[in-house]
Amino acid sequence: DWTMASYRQEMIEKIREQVGDKKVICALSGGVDSSVTGILLHEAIGDQLTCVFVDHGLLRLNEAQEVVDMFRNNYNLNLIHADESDLFLGELEGVSDPEVKRKTIGKLFIDVFQKYADQIEGAEFLAQGTLYPDVIESVSFSGGPSVTIKSHHNVGGLPEKMGLKLVEPLRELFKDEVRALGRELGLPDSFIGRHPFPGPGLAIRCPGEITREKLDILRQADAVYIDQIRKHGLYDEIWQAFAAILPMRTVGVMGDGRTYDYAVAIRAVTSVDGMTADTYPFTQEFLGETMTRIINEVKGVNRVFYDLTSKPPGTIELE
Ligand code: XMP
Repeated sequence: DWTMASYRQEMIEKIREQVGDKKVICALSGGVDSSVTGILLHEAIGDQLTCVFVDHGLLRLNEAQEVVDMFRNNYNLNLIHADESDLFLGELEGVSDPEVKRKTIGKLFIDVFQKYADQIEGAEFLAQGTLYPDVIESVSFSGGPSVTIKSHHNVGGLPEKMGLKLVEPLRELFKDEVRALGRELGLPDSFIGRHPFPGPGLAIRCPGEITREKLDILRQADAVYIDQIRKHGLYDEIWQAFAAILPMRTVGVMGDGRTYDYAVAIRAVTSVDGMTADTYPFTQEFLGETMTRIINEVKGVNRVFYDLTSKPPGTIELE
């Protein structure tokens, strides 16, 4: 793509101009925006960049390893894999209020990121994958109503606290343009086409108290569900799909025995920008097959609910 190829060069020049010979740190989440930001920065300034991937223990099955492998195998950039799951899950013990969860995770994220950033001597810049819609949204929110529905931990606050200057190469781009740029930079399709995943991760798909047991069950159920969606060729038709684990056990029957296990909810929505969403119309056959697979393949689950709620009145995530 000619436009993206020249845009890429233009961006690289701008980054070099802004950063000079200073060091930059970048928080990688594995999402498209931060991945493209990291790769673009790496192309512009090479070893002056260090990326930090904070693993809060709330990622999906094998996700941390896949992200780290993708970067290590395809790009020769400085990458710190910060496995801080014990810290995050420890602090979240006993927490069930959704906003307290988010604030806890957001605060720890900043602390952890700061800790790793402090180890990089002379870092003056923080790179962020802020997109044009994020810029618009934060502007309109600050002048708008004082009620925030949910606090998004990945916007704002961090650079000021750390005394770092911002590098935001994607500030003028919309999501589809970021994807095109990602393709231009050789990011694998499996990363470019990924459904959005929230900063607080599985924490907000586990209403009520978070335990390692519940997270394990949730990870497996989610993996089976997404596998089903891929097998049926539906992944790219859906804006976001995921499983959640509900804070209850129910009675079931398996073989000649009674079971008393967790219930899992599966959700899939279509959307343009996440602000509103419609429930994806799966066939009854698909739903039945998915229910059977989840219950057969995931120990600890004996019931599957399909979430019918659109947004509004629901939100996409459960918390
Ligand atoms: P809701 O649940 O508010 O989600 O309808 C709309 C979109 O935003 C994502 N989301 C988040 N993303 N940090 C994020 O980076 C967050 O705290 C967060 N909360 C929700 C959600 O996955 C959906 O795509």
